[in-house]
Amino acid sequence: MKKKLNILFVVSEVSPLVSTGGLAEVAQALSSSLRDRGHDVRVALPCYHQLPEEARGTVVSACSADFGGRRVRGALRASSLPGSGVPLYLVEHDGYFGRQGVYGTAAHEYPDNAERFCFFALSLLDALPRGGWRPDVVHCHDWHAAPMAVFLRSRWLGDPFWSGVPVVFTIHNLAFQGRYPAERFAATGIPEELFNDRCMRYEGDMNLMKGAIRLADALTTVSPRYAREIQTLDYGAGLHNELASRSEGLTGILNGVDTSLWNPERDPHIAAPFSGKHPEGKAACKADLQRAMGLPVEDVPLFGLVTRLYWQKGVDLLLDALPSRLAEGAQCVLLGSGDPDLEGRVMEVSGRFPRNLAVRLGYDAALSHRIIAGSDFLLMPSRYEPCGLTQMYALAYGTVPVVRRTGGLYDTVVPLNTRTLGNGTATGVCFIPQTAGAVGRAMDRAAALWTDKDALARVRSAGMARDFSWERSAGEYASLYGRLAGRGGRVS
Ligand code: ADP
Ligand code: GLC
Repeated sequence: MKKKLNILFVVSEVSPLVSTGGLAEVAQALSSSLRDRGHDVRVALPCYHQLPEEARGTVVSACSADFGGRRVRGALRASSLPGSGVPLYLVEHDGYFGRQGVYGTAAHEYPDNAERFCFFALSLLDALPRGGWRPDVVHCHDWHAAPMAVFLRSRWLGDPFWSGVPVVFTIHNLAFQGRYPAERFAATGIPEELFNDRCMRYEGDMNLMKGAIRLADALTTVSPRYAREIQTLDYGAGLHNELASRSEGLTGILNGVDTSLWNPERDPHIAAPFSGKHPEGKAACKADLQRAMGLPVEDVPLFGLVTRLYWQKGVDLLLDALPSRLAEGAQCVLLGSGDPDLEGRVMEVSGRFPRNLAVRLGYDAALSHRIIAGSDFLLMPSRYEPCGLTQMYALAYGTVPVVRRTGGLYDTVVPLNTRTLGNGTATGVCFIPQTAGAVGRAMDRAAALWTDKDALARVRSAGMARDFSWERSAGEYASLYGRLAGRGGRVS
């Protein structure tokens, strides 16, 4: 039998408590899958103002962060994650985390974010040893947890409790690196000698993620394709050389689908249950969605989007392609929020085509299920996509993804062509160029597929038969942890 491990997740978001996107869903589902495999996983996150009172548990210890001479005090709370019961450590400090936003206001990021997330890491390093539970592996997610990786591999290297504990760093999105002006470095408590171009300095700024990429024992990202892409100039967001230099220690492990939440046979949010064998309920879900969004209940192709509205997601490309397709009769439903300019453009197009484009600006989990279930197609024209979760939900719900072939979209969607349609493997419509023209042509191919009901049924059922459950991914992470814990160190 494999050794059961103590695993500490260091992460800034976890569903259902605090979420701005896929990271929180992954932290929730992966921690609970690893727990199902018998590991003792615990999740550490800041005790944000947004956390409901009942999730805050009790104070188990005082903690203090030694910023190299300057000491800041806080408290460590312990509670558990609603649903899975995974134990939580919450780092409390009103000044840093008792604010309205998680990372900032609508107008700007908090200027002291580097200090806030260094406080988070320093507090865990200080307080956890007193609790007696020692992780066999620390798994840091995204730049907010980069300071933890950096401290473990620098100031805490010789610490009797922390020494020899391997660190995994996972990149969920390379676009956010925790990059701040050099003058803020002194307030982080990170050893000054790391502020150089080899480690934590990038174009004169401090770059927290670069430090973690340099120092963590193993690096992962959330799809095999993205793991390769980020080693190239086009997708490396300035860090491709650093990533390429660690290519042996960098693996891509695909995210999964939390089937307890996303299963069309038992989804409390949708109008009728359905499955690959009994797909009839899907038509009721489509009519329900059309009604709910104020669109005519008509037999036309319906495209859905559930997305953060940012440059990454390529929604601007779609907005250029959309009007002519709406004019031809297609319908589109969009749920999302983000960049005010994009929100404005989306509303403007919907104002011109009120019977064809229905928009809800905001975050609405229940509506996201209805869109995934009721649409014929799910649009994801992403410029880059580390993994993407919604296309996997769509596949499970017989909603054909229309995606740009990048990152996790490349790894999870089998492009429709004569061969793949013939051998029954096609699951989606794919395109490559980052242009409005390519998005439009992909929509046209989707609309053509929609008119060929036999072909559509084959593509749908191939998608519904795919298994993207977390079990496989959790197994891959568990073997990585096992290898690291066994040898107490770096993979490359
Ligand atoms: P990212 O993390 O880049 O936003 P993912 O596809 O990995 O992309 O995850 C996004 C998650 O957030 C999905 O589960 C999606 O359904 C959800 N989501 C995004 N926007 C909204 C929204 N406006 N309302 C409800 N859920 C949303
Ligand atoms: C990021 C990526 C997304 C990925 C998610 C969870 O937000 O943009 O592609 O699925 O992290 O790993």
